[in-house]
Amino acid sequence: MSGTATGTVASSTRDSGGAIVRPAERLRGDVRLPGDKSISHRALLLAALAEGESRISGSGDGEDVRSTAGIVAALGVEVERIGGDGRTVDYRVVSPGADGLEEPDGVLDCGNSGTTLRLTTGLLAGLPMTAVLTGDPSLRRRPVARIIEPLRSMGAVLHARRNDSLPPLTVVGRTPLRALEYTTPTPSAQVKSAILLAALRADGRTTVHERVATRDHTERMLRARGVRVERADGADGVGWSVEGGEQVRAVAESIPGDVSAAAFWLVAAAIHPDAELTIHGVGMNPTRRAVVDILRTMGGRIDEGPERPDDGVGEPTADLTVRSSLLTAVDLGPADVAAAIDEIPVLCLAATQARGVTTIHGAGELRHKESDRLVGIAAGLTALGADVTVDGDDIRIAGPTSLQGAVTESLDDHRLAMTFAIAGLVASGQTIVDRPASAAISYPGFFDELERVRT
Ligand code: S3P
Repeated sequence: MSGTATGTVASSTRDSGGAIVRPAERLRGDVRLPGDKSISHRALLLAALAEGESRISGSGDGEDVRSTAGIVAALGVEVERIGGDGRTVDYRVVSPGADGLEEPDGVLDCGNSGTTLRLTTGLLAGLPMTAVLTGDPSLRRRPVARIIEPLRSMGAVLHARRNDSLPPLTVVGRTPLRALEYTTPTPSAQVKSAILLAALRADGRTTVHERVATRDHTERMLRARGVRVERADGADGVGWSVEGGEQVRAVAESIPGDVSAAAFWLVAAAIHPDAELTIHGVGMNPTRRAVVDILRTMGGRIDEGPERPDDGVGEPTADLTVRSSLLTAVDLGPADVAAAIDEIPVLCLAATQARGVTTIHGAGELRHKESDRLVGIAAGLTALGADVTVDGDDIRIAGPTSLQGAVTESLDDHRLAMTFAIAGLVASGQTIVDRPASAAISYPGFFDELERVRT
């Protein structure tokens, strides 16, 4: 499969299940990204709710987005792949609309994808059908009480393993649902989005508040599809309201490059002594671009090309050029963690090369990702010689340290596998990333790109 490390490349090779990464003399070139994973999931799910033909171009084509595409097809929607280049794919989706969706006749397999599991559950909560959702061993360890609780308050019937805490999860939908006023206890775009999708099928106005803002793709994408989504900010922070019964319109959308994938190249070039990379078409949604701004605060030399504004449906993008940088430590708190939730692992790598002590407070949500990322990042970076301490939900990294090649455990977590592979570009000797294939969850072709940019 493209995207996994293969035995054919010179410096990053696969050996008994591990990818071997040797230091790069120079990093140069142009990087093209996979389509944004978060937006791709939503584009497919919203296309299922919209009657008629939707077009999605430049979707992410990693395993997670494929899981969502499979589930949308299982609901009786025509999902056709009409083009693509291995990294991205174009879809044509034809749906009978929310009221014509079919009850799936098998268990819905979300694979490794928490976004698929949680957003699909929100979508199904308001449909008159029963569905069972499950996933791979990693997903079956991830919390679902956070969606069960609000969706139950709306009237759907949900049950899950271990006292309603873990998948598999069963949802018996109800039409209409009861409208809800809800404040998310932990910042989560997945929970917010699950509620907003359910809200479309509720009998009044549903409002979700979040004390710490998270990515707003669902809100933007609903609006672009004709749904009125209103701001309802209040004492509990940012709020979003949706009136039940609104129809989702079919649209054609271009998906921007995934800024979470760009993060690996931003850090690679910033920490490498002889680097210049240009990353094309990076999604610059203000609620997703925190990694760019955090790296800049650390001294990252990142030039941002002119922003291409959204076209009414899509999102703003820009080309970014990043060069070797002298980084300094930074202090990050819970709002930064929420804004850069998927980029914290690779930012920790950047911190190992920054002068001073970097602290990241309130990073507990990282324990509930594809792996316990606090444990995984500390173990991998420590194996490479970094000075990393995890204390409760806080991380402390003292730098700069010169990294030495070692065996790193990816824990089958795509973001850890890619972080340690990037570390291998600057570590002395040989870095082995154990079980690197998970990179294809979000970034098919990652290891090929890693080879292409070393010159
Ligand atoms: C996502 C939200 C985040 C993020 C995940 C994608 C989304 O999860 O970590 O990779 O697309 O809404 P949480 O909502 O659980 O923080």
